Amino acid sequence: MRLRVVANHERTIPMAEMSSGRLAALQDHPDECQGNQSATREGEAPRQLPRGYVLRQRVNQDHEEIQSLLRRAYPPPHGSECVWSMAALEQHLQHFPEGQFVIQDADAVLRATSTTLRVGRERAFSPHTWMAITGMGTLSTHDPAGEILYGVNIAVDPDCQGRGLAHALYRTRFELGRRLGCSAFAAGARIPGFHSMAGQFSPEEYVARVIGGEIFDPTLSKQLALGFHVVGVLPDYAYDHETLGHAALIVKNLRGEG
Ligand SMILES: CC(C)(COP(=O)(O)OP(=O)(O)OC[C@H]1O[C@@H](n2cnc3c(N)ncnc32)[C@H](O)[C@@H]1OP(=O)(O)O)[C@@H](O)C(=O)NCCC(=O)NCCS
Repeated sequence: MRLRVVANHERTIPMAEMSSGRLAALQDHPDECQGNQSATREGEAPRQLPRGYVLRQRVNQDHEEIQSLLRRAYPPPHGSECVWSMAALEQHLQHFPEGQFVIQDADAVLRATSTTLRVGRERAFSPHTWMAITGMGTLSTHDPAGEILYGVNIAVDPDCQGRGLAHALYRTRFELGRRLGCSAFAAGARIPGFHSMAGQFSPEEYVARVIGGEIFDPTLSKQLALGFHVVGVLPDYAYDHETLGHAALIVKNLRGEG
């Protein structure tokens, strides 16, 4: 069965059909990402960062601050699993330095970070876990010829959320992907609001309601606002008490758009 992009809540049945093993079908239908209503409203119109903020590539000297930022972005009961080790951060720069970005504020305090790798289409659109696709968070799975730019992590300081920092990071990553010739940007998106509704909805139903605008999810709703499409649900994606392990596989086509 062909996967169908779910554009709104009325089309929840295909959404439920997409989970687990059926994600692989997208490989045969690369244009599934086009023609969705969000594709024209984009998240890519230039939006200014707050005054004095700078977006730049990550360097080794940033790593302690990134750890501190991640502790703020993932406060308890999130644990150390949400904070990169120094060794992992260093490996990111060894494997794919141009894919790693940070935003600092006017006082040079790090306020946002994003981590990215390249993988093949089959790997990105088959059922997978965060640990497997990221090489246990080291980016050892980075394929310099990979067709898909894959979002490993993005975090914005809670004091600075809602000011367009994620927007700027995604825009920069989309530009990088296009420059490298990647066909799409994909990621396993957290659904942190799911735990409070898990008694009422399956993950697929929850995600369909977020897509339909009936539920605001603190992470997925923002990604949808930036032009991503959901192509399925990844069960057991990553240990997370808010998402109960589930993620939405989101994709942004990087071809055929401005
Ligand atoms: C998810 C996260 C990275 C988003 O960062 P952010 O800087 O707050 O996002 P932005 O301000 O760039 O907002 C992106 C879009 O979401 C929408 N948005 C932002 N805040 C919103 C709000 N409170 N209500 C409704 N929509 C909102 C906007 O439309 C915005 O698009 P625009 O810039 O075109 O207007 C951030 O909330 C975060 O770090 N969360 C914790 C870690 C996490 O879950 N990471 C994601 C891993 S998949």
